[in-house]
Amino acid sequence: MRVEVILSPGEVEHHDLAGRVCVIIDVFRFTTTVLTALEAGLERFYPVEEVEEAFRLKQANPTLLLAGERNALKVPGFDFGNSPLEHAGKSYSGGGLVFTTTNGTRAVRAAQGAGEVVLACLRSAPAVAAYLRERGRDVVLLPAGLEGKFSLEDTWCAGCLASLLPAEEYGDGAKAALLVYEHTPREELAHSAHGRRLQALGLWEDLRFCLEYGVSPGVVVWDKDTGWGALARER
Ligand code: MLT
Repeated sequence: MRVEVILSPGEVEHHDLAGRVCVIIDVFRFTTTVLTALEAGLERFYPVEEVEEAFRLKQANPTLLLAGERNALKVPGFDFGNSPLEHAGKSYSGGGLVFTTTNGTRAVRAAQGAGEVVLACLRSAPAVAAYLRERGRDVVLLPAGLEGKFSLEDTWCAGCLASLLPAEEYGDGAKAALLVYEHTPREELAHSAHGRRLQALGLWEDLRFCLEYGVSPGVVVWDKDTGWGALARER
């Protein structure tokens, strides 16, 4: 297995994703929120890049729920923002969520050319690593970053995942992410650029929730052919 990490989302076009599993990581907060919403019982999610597209989909199918943020705040008219705490402890009986966020949903769409697309966060990192070990394919980890730039928490999570995989070969990005992971305490991630932005909005509880490690068995997969994602079925 070869493991690579794309250190900033703007580099995706320079990487060959064909036939590989691409893992999207947006610790603060998209991939954490999707996992939490699906674990609370929503059946599936559909990532879109633009707010207008989300409203168009809801117009065509009013049963859909809309979720997402702009500048970390809930989009007016949406059912949910992008906080995992909106879903934690809830119990839904199915339903589809259309999601649009600044970084995370774009990263998912950018992985369209991969053989398979998986979402990961700190809460699910060991479960995702076990899933990737079972798949046995080459892995490309894609931290969603912050507005096209490198982000500490997503790179840390990528390095953590890389450390849990039986890699025969690490690419240069993976070697750098491993160093970030090995030399940065997890609590420090709350003070990354994105962490400080969420702190300034008073979202400390979101940060705490997103920084919990390995507490979820859920693995979120996204089907690039249908555009819908869901929890992977029993493995
Ligand atoms: C995103 O995908 O852009 C982030 O999850 C932003 C946020 O913290 O809401």
